[in-house]
Amino acid sequence: PGGTVRDALGRPLRDLRISVTDRCNFRCTYCMPRELFGTDHVFLPHSALLTFEEITRVARIALASGVRKIRLTGGEPLLRKQIETLVGLLAGLRTPQGEPPELTLTTNGTLLARKARALAEAGLKRVTVSLDALDDALFERMSDSGVPVATILDGIEAAAAAGLSPVKVNMVVRRGMNDGQILPMARHFRHTGHTLRFIEYMDVGSTNGWRMDEVVTGAEIVRIVGGEFPLRPLQARYQGEVAARWAYADGAGEIGLITSVSQPFCGDCTRLRLSPEGRLFTCLFAEQGHDLRALLRGGADDAALGRRLSGVWQARDDRYSERRGEAHRDHKIEMSYIGG
Ligand code: GTP
Ligand code: 5AD
Ligand code: SF4
Ligand code: SF4
Repeated sequence: PGGTVRDALGRPLRDLRISVTDRCNFRCTYCMPRELFGTDHVFLPHSALLTFEEITRVARIALASGVRKIRLTGGEPLLRKQIETLVGLLAGLRTPQGEPPELTLTTNGTLLARKARALAEAGLKRVTVSLDALDDALFERMSDSGVPVATILDGIEAAAAAGLSPVKVNMVVRRGMNDGQILPMARHFRHTGHTLRFIEYMDVGSTNGWRMDEVVTGAEIVRIVGGEFPLRPLQARYQGEVAARWAYADGAGEIGLITSVSQPFCGDCTRLRLSPEGRLFTCLFAEQGHDLRALLRGGADDAALGRRLSGVWQARDDRYSERRGEAHRDHKIEMSYIGG
């Protein structure tokens, strides 16, 4: 106990990304298109979801196997009732070295203005907020919701005011859709202390009809932003950092580029994902998970759960983004289920 487990390619287990619900109040066209996630779509019933106690138990066991960072995702995690209770339970956990886990959450921001204080008080450290456009009409079209951009911006400010900072803002860039928003977004978030991160549009799930020509590469984005505001590259803060960081030369802050398509980062991928109903996924592009819920609900003790979790990690050889094109997959899990 207390040891870091390594996968078949020698990668240590460091991050646990926990999806707490498959529901979302947005219908982003690239994630939950309304044709497929409409009124007749069947979401998981509450009884299928892991309880907060079950999630906390898995997290505790994962910490004993090397996990240092825990991120809550969804769907939209703030739709899960009393999510701050779960945050409090997770914040009380310790690594074998006695450190608290680095606890963060990725949200679409709609409920953040209301929830930021309670989340911070429960022990959340930071948040990442998704925002694909500043233009209201475009934002409403992309999120297929009636929510104005101002609601999300208020959520970001509330999070920073509650100490959940620096806030990271994730923008998925899709050519022909919101690439015209790259510069407005850069201008808006300079000097705010929030870190804007541009994400290359990925072929996750099987519903978004992804095409390579819709990807705007990180290199292209650096040229676009750098053309108006000179940039200089920054060192990664730790091995396996997902975003490449660039600083504005004039001191206005930094941006990040998440280049999962043009420059995959599987070699350093230390992330394990837990689905809302208790399946472990060893890759964002996995076709199948490994069920833990049957063990959890069947009376297995911590040692048995630990062996199962370590075993899943030790067998892992995924590196989908590095092999994109070689390996066609038919049944990739949806981003709304596993949370990115
Ligand atoms: P921090 O920078 O430590 O806060 O975490 P992070 O960058 O992992 O957080 P976030 O959830 O914001 O991730 C940003 C985005 O990067 C995700 O939403 C995904 O689009 C992408 N991403 C994160 N992890 C992976 C991964 O393992 N594989 C791939 N292909 N993309 C990932
Ligand atoms: N490609 C890249 N990022 C995506 N996200 C959702 N779908 C995709 C995709 N196809 C992003 C969300 C959010 C994060 C969890 O993942 O916008 O910022
Ligand atoms: Fe959009 Fe995120 Fe909701 Fe998917 S989970 S529909 S990307 S807000
Ligand atoms: Fe990790 Fe899979 Fe993403 Fe590669 S594609 S970085 S292995 S989750």
